[in-house]
Amino acid sequence: MSYDQDFWERVWSKMLREQGEKVARRQPNAWLRETAAALKPGRALDAGCGHGAEALWLAAQGWEVTAVDFAASALAQGRAMAEALGAEVAARITWVEGDLGVWAPQAARFDLVSCLYVHVAGSVEAMVRRMGEGVAEGGTLLLLGHQPVDPATGAPTSAAGQVQISVERAVAALDTQEWELIVAEERPRAAVGSGVDAAIQARRLRRRGSPEAR
Ligand SMILES: C[S@@+](CC[C@H](N)C(=O)[O-])C[C@H]1O[C@@H](n2cnc3c(N)ncnc32)[C@H](O)[C@@H]1O
Repeated sequence: MSYDQDFWERVWSKMLREQGEKVARRQPNAWLRETAAALKPGRALDAGCGHGAEALWLAAQGWEVTAVDFAASALAQGRAMAEALGAEVAARITWVEGDLGVWAPQAARFDLVSCLYVHVAGSVEAMVRRMGEGVAEGGTLLLLGHQPVDPATGAPTSAAGQVQISVERAVAALDTQEWELIVAEERPRAAVGSGVDAAIQARRLRRRGSPEAR
């Protein structure tokens, strides 16, 4: 199966048509909330934002958010939900239709870059580096990837067939001269039997080429 734009557009259209209210009620990711709550609101990038549960929450906390996805119907839902939350929240989110296989953030623009549960077409390391490029010095990179096999049972998970971020590949992509790894581990998912997530939290110490990095 190809997890391309057409695939995700079909998934989102169906889900919003058949379970729109359930989708709208989905709570933002608990780890993202916990991590962002400890940071001073600044600029955030939510890469692969879907319908924007996390982007909406971040904007409500005062973050200026860029929310990127290639599924137009998910972005439309996010925009509508933002407007329903009020002009102030809506004005803090820029919705971008973009393919993370090629889309790259402006270098050093963001204080927080999160990329949660995104299938990566191509090299995971390249994608992690691309997302990391967007993080300013002192900023945070937060990655979650549902692993395709449940290590407890060896059974395939609902992410089987997808290539999401793994601890090994994310760690290989992050130069320790530039990044402090705060979390790099597999964690059991909340839903019993659904396997584990690779969880990465890293803080950018410096950028290659900056005076301290030489
Ligand atoms: C499993 S959903 C996760 C959504 C959200 N991050 C969350 O945690 O609930 C994966 C999202 O990534 C988006 N996506 C997958 N591949 C993408 C790509 N190459 N470029 C942009 N968005 C992509 C899909 O459209 C979908 O909204």
